[in-house]
Amino acid sequence: MALRSSLWYSGNDRNSYIHRAWMRRGLPREAFEGGKPHIAIANTASDLTPCNSHLNEVAESVAHGVWEAGGVPLNLPVVSLGETNVRPTAMLWRNLAAMATEEMLRANPVDGVVLLGGCDKTIPSLLMAAASVDLPAVVMPGGPMLTGHFRGAPLGCGTDVWRLSEEVRAGTLSREEFLRSESSMIRSRGHCNTMGTASTMACMAEALGMTIPGTAGTPAPDSRLLERSHETGRLAVELVARERRPSRVMTRGSFLNAIVTLAAVGGSTNAVVHLLAIAGRLGVDLSLDDFDRTGSGVPLLVDLQPAGRHLMDDLFRAGGLAAVLKEVEDLLDPEAVAVTGRPLVEHLAGAEIWDESVIRRRADPLLPDAGIAVLRGNLAPGGAVIKPAAASPELLRHRGRAVVFESIEDVHARLDSPALDVDETSVLVLRGCGPKGYPGMPEVGNLPLPAKLLEKGVRDMVRISDARMSGTAYGTVVLHTAPEAAAGGPLAKVRTGDPIVLDVAARRLDVDIPDAELAARRPATTGYAEPARGWERLYVDHVTQADRGADLDFLIGSSGDRVGRESH
Ligand code: FES
Repeated sequence: MALRSSLWYSGNDRNSYIHRAWMRRGLPREAFEGGKPHIAIANTASDLTPCNSHLNEVAESVAHGVWEAGGVPLNLPVVSLGETNVRPTAMLWRNLAAMATEEMLRANPVDGVVLLGGCDKTIPSLLMAAASVDLPAVVMPGGPMLTGHFRGAPLGCGTDVWRLSEEVRAGTLSREEFLRSESSMIRSRGHCNTMGTASTMACMAEALGMTIPGTAGTPAPDSRLLERSHETGRLAVELVARERRPSRVMTRGSFLNAIVTLAAVGGSTNAVVHLLAIAGRLGVDLSLDDFDRTGSGVPLLVDLQPAGRHLMDDLFRAGGLAAVLKEVEDLLDPEAVAVTGRPLVEHLAGAEIWDESVIRRRADPLLPDAGIAVLRGNLAPGGAVIKPAAASPELLRHRGRAVVFESIEDVHARLDSPALDVDETSVLVLRGCGPKGYPGMPEVGNLPLPAKLLEKGVRDMVRISDARMSGTAYGTVVLHTAPEAAAGGPLAKVRTGDPIVLDVAARRLDVDIPDAELAARRPATTGYAEPARGWERLYVDHVTQADRGADLDFLIGSSGDRVGRESH
């Protein structure tokens, strides 16, 4: 098999001379001979992505594995998105990161790629890029951080920030105590240690077959992470030799496996948008309804924050993802292969549960039907999602009066006002926060509760928006309402006082007013200034709605690893 990189390096002409000569800074001549595959290490290490700051060390272990297996490792720093730093929201840049990584892989003399990610958007963007360029690829997740403690209790990174800050607003925790918890929140290297989006997407990568099975959830400081990184480097060389490309691994069966996994681990709603986007890049037929059809009857087996009690290092010591998947093995596609070339289910043979308080048996789940529920109705003709596992059971069927907020700024201005006409039966509606509306679809869907209700002891209310929610958050929160208000969706026509009806069992989300009245109403304007230029302009013009993964319309469908023209 002729290597792709040989199109740059083989021969004795001027161009191959240039390609080799400029690369010979530490690389011997033999690196370009004998069919050695050149493996890019797409590395999202960055000081500004603190969850990924250790990935250079991971990359070194990957590189050792590549050399050992007869390949040539090449570090390729790619766009990195630090969830806590990047404004207005890292999601605005996910497609940019995916597009830049895709094009750099296509433009360079590489035969395969190891994808190093961790923080929320990094694994999704890497998988989208790998799906589009379809070079042999394997994911090496950076792993979660260890559990920090405050006042003797474990801290769930992210989740407990929301909880503690609500306690301050409710007057049950002093601001000084709250600030004291800051130094305990992040105990070590690694990404958030709840089943937030980063942990979820590492599990999704494994369920899709894109990691060496047994890798997801290995804590970042654990020595086994580097051991597995070394193995992953070795495997990348094999992937090239066997031409095992993402399109062969990430089939529809693999996506359905990921949906089963998402439900069993109680994963983040953000995975819905990311999986739809990755599938779109591959041309795999996956729809929002697949999440409900395949996932909604799957039991919740993992007792992790934000829906439960424990944290990622507990999951790892309790048997890890493999032990969870073993419990739902009959629901998995037996033919979906992993990067190893063997079906994912074959890798589950030795998996065991070591702590049933963290990973429950199938016969004793935390919830019998845990997957994402997809709602439709006159408020969400394109669909909306809710995670029942993170919601209050008594609110899953609810009728209440809408209290409408036009924007995040409007929430900040009015939510805590004593004059706000709201009670615990109200339904908080936030619009203008979808993919186009507040470009990037920020994680504001779990909008805080009004202070006066917090003071009364109210801890959950029905909330509806076209936004996303942090994977570390919880509550009875309807998200990703499509079409969003800024794209002309009916959410733009709801008015304060309208009766809203949520019925999760019936999968309905409606505003209970006559159809003719809803049709006749003029949609509210969001007041957001349209971006004038640059990426934001391109994004707003081309982003799809959440039910299609919020990808750019012109990036949907695979384009492969075609090599561009020479320019010298
Ligand atoms: Fe990076 Fe949570 S902020 S994973």
